[in-house]
Amino acid sequence: MLEVRGLAKHFGGVRSVDGIDFTIRPGEVFGLIGPNGSGKSTTVNLISGLYEPTGGQILFEGNDIGRVPAHRRLSLGLARTFQNIRLFSNLTVWENLWMAENAPSHRTGGFLKRWIGGRKEARDRMKRALEFSGLAHRADDFAGSLAFGEQRRLELARALAAEPKLLLLDEPAAGMNAEEIAELDERIRLLQKESYTILLIEHHMELVMAVTDRICVLNFGRKIAEGTPVEVQADAAVREAYLGAAA
Ligand SMILES: Nc1ncnc2c1ncn2[C@@H]1O[C@H](COP(=O)(O)OP(=O)(O)OP(=O)(O)O)[C@@H](O)[C@H]1O
Ligand SMILES: [Mg+2]
Repeated sequence: MLEVRGLAKHFGGVRSVDGIDFTIRPGEVFGLIGPNGSGKSTTVNLISGLYEPTGGQILFEGNDIGRVPAHRRLSLGLARTFQNIRLFSNLTVWENLWMAENAPSHRTGGFLKRWIGGRKEARDRMKRALEFSGLAHRADDFAGSLAFGEQRRLELARALAAEPKLLLLDEPAAGMNAEEIAELDERIRLLQKESYTILLIEHHMELVMAVTDRICVLNFGRKIAEGTPVEVQADAAVREAYLGAAA
């Protein structure tokens, strides 16, 4: 589904991502972990089109999308959430979904027919995403009035409303309490059952180890390990990176 080859992003002398390779298979929950500043968010920013790579390739369903603008990547089937929540706090929950709305480009028929049909279809997708995220009862409330965990769920709903083929989640559990994390765990499993493909960045190790099929570990912009949760947990370089970061 997604293949990253020699992907690099340098900011002046800072090699945030420094030539990484990995492949995400269809239907897989793929974990991307590593200490703070190891290049995880930069990788997602490259895949979603927020940054242009310094080098390397991003292949999505076999096509190089490295220079495709971000909004086109959304219509190709790539949607994301942000580590730092990005919502319009003075708009309602429902309006926040509309703001992100991006109609798929493959509809046929005249302009008016496509427009009306597109709006109805979009409304249905948004409703489903809100219900799935447990926010249907909050649709008319201002996003700014939501509790923190609800705002994270709205971020998820916004990404899901696009019905992406690949969902990129950048620390969805950050700032959540134990109960909210358990709900998130459940939601990720449901999405997996519906054969969504997911890239999950998370510091919450219990969650990562529980829901991912495979994990890629970054340190200083480079891949230091890749494998199943069990393999990665047993890896000496991974233990060293985390212990080093803690010390
Ligand atoms: N726009 C930017 N300009 C300059 N440096 C950047 C930029 N974005 C990221 N960096 C640097 O790149 C490195 C990797 O950052 P990144 O945000 O990808 O890390 P991360 O793995 O997501 O960390 P965290 O777990 O703290 O979110 C850091 O040293 C960071 O300061
Ligand atoms: Mg990050």
